[in-house]
Amino acid sequence: MTKIRFGVFGLGRGDDFVGNMKKNGAELIAICDKNEKLLTKKQEQYPGVTAYTDFDKFINHEGLDAVVIANYFHEHAPYAIKALEKNIHVLSECTPAGTMGEAVALVRAAEKSEAIYMLAENYPYMKFNQEMRRVYQSGVLGKVLYAEGEYNHPIWGDGFTAELCPDSKHWRYHMPRVYYITHALAPLCYITGVMPKRISAFPISYPHTKENFMGDLYWRLPDRSAMVSCFNEDGSVFRVFGWSQFGGHDNTYRICGSIGQIENVRGDTERVTLRFNDSFIPEGLKESNSYYPEWNIEDKDLAEKAGHGGGDFFTSKVFCDSIREGKQPMFDVYFGTTLSAIAILAHKSALEYGVPYDVPDFHLEEDRVKWENDFSSPMWGSDGTPPTIPSTELAEYIPTEESMAEFDRATEAYWAKKNAENNG
Ligand SMILES: NC(=O)c1ccc[n+]([C@@H]2O[C@H](COP(=O)([O-])OP(=O)(O)OC[C@H]3O[C@@H](n4cnc5c(N)ncnc54)[C@H](O)[C@@H]3O)[C@@H](O)[C@H]2O)c1
Repeated sequence: MTKIRFGVFGLGRGDDFVGNMKKNGAELIAICDKNEKLLTKKQEQYPGVTAYTDFDKFINHEGLDAVVIANYFHEHAPYAIKALEKNIHVLSECTPAGTMGEAVALVRAAEKSEAIYMLAENYPYMKFNQEMRRVYQSGVLGKVLYAEGEYNHPIWGDGFTAELCPDSKHWRYHMPRVYYITHALAPLCYITGVMPKRISAFPISYPHTKENFMGDLYWRLPDRSAMVSCFNEDGSVFRVFGWSQFGGHDNTYRICGSIGQIENVRGDTERVTLRFNDSFIPEGLKESNSYYPEWNIEDKDLAEKAGHGGGDFFTSKVFCDSIREGKQPMFDVYFGTTLSAIAILAHKSALEYGVPYDVPDFHLEEDRVKWENDFSSPMWGSDGTPPTIPSTELAEYIPTEESMAEFDRATEAYWAKKNAENNG
């Protein structure tokens, strides 16, 4: 097995890749994070690995074959492009691009590069989603007509907020929930092999305020989710959400075919239910079949121990296999940037209460030129660039200097109290 020498950029989520890449025969040789305290901690944990605070020095580390890009959510593309220009393979956390213009630039860079590019979208590889793909691809459901995907991950409470959102310019403070669409949508594309071609979205807003929120720290954003309708290339329809903040936590998916349907069950997500109508039940199956699927793979034990229901093992595996085989993966640059584009266009649509947008085909230059100069973003750049479009359709809740300062004061107070408790 060829040793793949890799580096990790962004050591929050990025650190989760270290073990999974190693399980797939890769060797960690360099790490990079501007947070020096975190960097030093990780350097001690990984002796012999070179640590950098500066990406440009990191990417020039001798012998680097591949990088995991896991810096701020909306700032992956410029760094991925720099790696691709050096023919270094890229495994990019979601989302691949924070703006339409960057999505176009990323596709162009990947086409010029000899390197592999993969979106590290892990939810499709969860056990139940792999089972739903196996069943759908067997043909037993007929043709997909309609499907649903939900990533409902409410995060409330001072501890969560302070850990995940260190200051009021951080991406999590400003990100429209629909920008985080990949966990809801990618599994549907993976299971069915179908991609959206036109979308429209409605916002779901309910402001976090001191009155309705359980804690002192609250996101100014009222944005809880957006419901996105996708009209697909094969005439089917998907209904998906972004990173939703309502009700109970669940990642659920439902595929309705012309003959039968399969879904994982809300509140018991590891279980899948496969159903048919009594007028036609395929041989060997019942009208309703409910079960907990098992892995049907050689690396079962490695997958079982990996994060996100085994999904984290598979993103690293598919990436390493793609490098060794010299073949772009299914979640290639076109797939990744299309998902980013759907998220960005869904937000534009939600701001306009449902105006539809065509999803660009990034293989086509005519579609790229339409978007190549659109760098509008609802998030702050880490160079201090302010947002250029609203993060919410409710103008009165767009974060202001005053509300951001209030959040920063509350965060500082939270950490002061926490540190005092720990030291006392
Ligand atoms: N697929 C999943 O299940 C999953 C889970 C968690 C996070 N993520 C994704 O992973 C990415 C990172 O998430 P996170 O929670 O670690 O985010 P984060 O914002 O908490 O941390 C990002 C890290 O990158 C570092 N960083 C940012 N810009 C840098 C720069 N220019 N130079 C050096 N270091 C820099 C920061 O110091 C920080 O340590 C995001 O895109 C997020 O969406 C995916």
